[in-house]
Amino acid sequence: MFDYTAPANLLEGRVILITGAGDGIGRACALSCAAHGATVVLVGRTQSKLEEVYDAIEAAGHPQPALCPLNLETATEKDYEDLADQLFDAFGHLDGLVHNAAELGPRTLLDSVKADAWIRVMQVNVNAPFLLTKTMMPLLRAASDASVVLLSSSVGRKGRAYWGPYAISKFAVEGMMQVLADEQDGTSNIRVNSLNPGATRTRMRARAYPNEPVETNPEPEAIMPAFLYLLGPDSRECNGQALNAQ
Ligand SMILES: NC(=O)c1ccc[n+]([C@@H]2O[C@H](COP(=O)([O-])OP(=O)(O)OC[C@H]3O[C@@H](n4cnc5c(N)ncnc54)[C@H](OP(=O)(O)O)[C@@H]3O)[C@@H](O)[C@H]2O)c1
Repeated sequence: MFDYTAPANLLEGRVILITGAGDGIGRACALSCAAHGATVVLVGRTQSKLEEVYDAIEAAGHPQPALCPLNLETATEKDYEDLADQLFDAFGHLDGLVHNAAELGPRTLLDSVKADAWIRVMQVNVNAPFLLTKTMMPLLRAASDASVVLLSSSVGRKGRAYWGPYAISKFAVEGMMQVLADEQDGTSNIRVNSLNPGATRTRMRARAYPNEPVETNPEPEAIMPAFLYLLGPDSRECNGQALNAQ
């Protein structure tokens, strides 16, 4: 497991947006960031799941989160701009952006993938992080120490049979990370890195490996040290890196 122990107040005063914050790794990330003092912006598709996370954060007495339902498959550039305007009015800056939401899509021979399934995976896993990053850039520039984290996968670093558009979308995510990171010159306050969570006990993992016993893999909470490291000030000098949470 990634070796990092976060102080309790690591993210105090920071505003951190997490996509797919209602379930799995994104949910754990939202709860963990809030527990370390961040104001989290909960973006996701299923309002009831976001509300459950919101309530848990409020009940624990952590900073009040912002709840922003958004379907990344259908969101337009205008929707992202409206979100950026809301965040600008509410906070004036954004210290962390975690591109976590993803679509697994079909796991089959590439030449059997239907065009609409390919397009859906690319829309959620590639186009949405591009549009969201683009529209959040002014808010990230307004922060003194901003971190962008793109969730990757081992199949986005070495291709594997039958992982179809998902694997290829994660290669694009790694490319987006490298391009964005390389665009941050010595004066930039923004760092951009990718993070492969590794096999983690979530709905997506269960869908990808239906015959695997659930207890095989760690809970999302166990992989949070890498997220906290990347979102807090200790990773200030870390830019353009492809990291592993396990
Ligand atoms: N779990 C693993 O073993 C593993 C391994 C390698 C990489 N990863 C990566 O880690 C990240 C998180 O995966 P996970 O396992 O936590 O997946 P998960 O349990 O399926 O959760 C994904 C989250 O993304 C949201 N989401 C999906 N499509 C969306 C859309 N169109 N608009 C808005 N939100 C959407 C889901 O919303 P709903 O709740 O509404 O469905 C859910 O909250 C992904 O990028 C994945 O590729 C995971």
